[in-house]
Amino acid sequence: MRTFIDIISEDLKQAFAACGYAEKYGQATVSNRPDLCQYQCNGAMAAAKEYKKAPIMIAQEVVAALDKKKFAEVTAIAPGFINIKVCPYYLTLYLQDMITAEKYGYEEQGKGQKIIVDYGGPNVAKPLHIGHLRSAVIGESIKRICKFAGADAIGDVHLGDWGLQMGLIIEELKVRQPELCYFDESYTGEYPVEAPFTISELEEIYPAASAKSKVDEEFKAKAHEATAKLQSGYAPYIAVWKHILAVSVADLKKNYENLNVDFEYWLGESDAQPYIPAMLEEMVAKGYARESMGALVVDIAEETDTKELPPCIVRKSDGAAIYETTDLATIIQREKDFNPDRYLYVVDKRQDLHFVQVFRAAKKCGLLPAEKELLFLGFGTVNGKDGKPFKTRDGGVMRLENLIAGVNEEVFDKVMSGREMPEEEARAIAKTVGLAALKYADLSNQIAKDYIFDIDRFTSFEGNTGPYILYTMVRIKSILAKYAETVGAADGGIAHPYGGEAETRTYGDAEIDLMLTAAKFNDVVAKTYDELAPHKLCQYIYEMANAFNSFYHGNKIMSEEDKKKQGEWIALITLVLKLLETCIDLLGFEAPERM
Ligand code: ARG
Repeated sequence: MRTFIDIISEDLKQAFAACGYAEKYGQATVSNRPDLCQYQCNGAMAAAKEYKKAPIMIAQEVVAALDKKKFAEVTAIAPGFINIKVCPYYLTLYLQDMITAEKYGYEEQGKGQKIIVDYGGPNVAKPLHIGHLRSAVIGESIKRICKFAGADAIGDVHLGDWGLQMGLIIEELKVRQPELCYFDESYTGEYPVEAPFTISELEEIYPAASAKSKVDEEFKAKAHEATAKLQSGYAPYIAVWKHILAVSVADLKKNYENLNVDFEYWLGESDAQPYIPAMLEEMVAKGYARESMGALVVDIAEETDTKELPPCIVRKSDGAAIYETTDLATIIQREKDFNPDRYLYVVDKRQDLHFVQVFRAAKKCGLLPAEKELLFLGFGTVNGKDGKPFKTRDGGVMRLENLIAGVNEEVFDKVMSGREMPEEEARAIAKTVGLAALKYADLSNQIAKDYIFDIDRFTSFEGNTGPYILYTMVRIKSILAKYAETVGAADGGIAHPYGGEAETRTYGDAEIDLMLTAAKFNDVVAKTYDELAPHKLCQYIYEMANAFNSFYHGNKIMSEEDKKKQGEWIALITLVLKLLETCIDLLGFEAPERM
């Protein structure tokens, strides 16, 4: 469906044209004076310059020429504004069409496109911490938005599974359990299926090994050696690595599931390794890469750069591949396996330079066609109230698991306060609402902005929060349930529930406001996709929740005596609930039945 604002603009454009002015001046915008009007058109002011005429005269001419059947009120206001109120009945017709349209009238913008979303980015054997929260939450939402836009969007977790942490773990394991067959060079049998450690042991081994390597040079050297051995394919170490991967991935999956985050692919840095040798060879052969102090680098600086950008190192002087190398080789792997049109990377914005280097090097070396899009969606930091990256009370890194548990506990207390509810039910509700609190708090900020982690505010049932949105949805659900019980199914529509003809009744301001907000759905989703900006959806559902609550407080829906009107209200709030459900699904959370 065309957006509501486009439909209004079209009438205005025709009127401008009929008066001999360029059509473009007829574009309407949402009013910035909602006390005066709902939409406005400022085109007469711009046209005045081109046609050398007083803007108010142009506005008056256009208003006179306008086909006004969709409008309740149109006025030309000095110096040249055109203020518009739409006819509520026309609005109900639009909403009626939304109810029956596919995706409530949103026209898919991403059809035929393949999009890979690189998000999550956990490192094997290291627990998820607060730094991983945003990538998971934002990436999941972006992916869902792309899918809703009709694109073939796939998520790849891009595990950090090939670095020094592997050598550290292997070496530490060797110290602790030298008798294991992986460390017996004469061993020729099969390797055990069972891992020699549990996830909690693994989570203890890694930090211990990492700390040791900082004070014990010999241990560090051995860990490097073990890493190199693993990377060259030494079978016993590959076997240990597979154990580390399996144990760690099982735990990561559980954690992501708790976040309602799901990846189509569990590929990792290791999957890119086979592509590295040929890639480097070709970079050299084609003259894209050059030797620099023993390392191999690709120059990526461009004339228009305002600051000097260092070349992209693709091989260190000791021959080792680094983060840049792996990301470049991953592009080759993805071209081969998925052939996407767009690549979206949801990663900490402090990795900005890394991605500039990788993207430029990839294009320069022809790893992918020039027209393909490589986009870095860098997110800001989650800070504590002191403005510094969020830490635990004793100054440590906050584990994601503990963070989620803390939020759920807070919501649980709120759900239980002042009423009776079976504990099990309250726990389940707290889990659903807690996740919404966490995700909404994150997604309602622009991606690149930092934000302050404030558990009290995030979990409040009032204000611009996830729980407030859910509370509103639960309220609508309960009205609909009551209506179904007492009156029966609401089979009517918003415009003419009895199939009658157009008729005018009076509509309250809050009702009109709610209808206008609902009618914006397709426009909001389109902008959200265009700008890959989930915060726009958050703004929208907050606006809708507010509009609904004003409507709800100003009208007695259940005791309304005009049954036709009541039926229309029920149809309207049914649509509002569906739109909210669609939006929160795109944000990656759900609403409970009650709370
Ligand atoms: N594992 C990386 C880290 O912890 C994030 C990976 C992001 N994705 C990528 N393709 N580089 O920083």
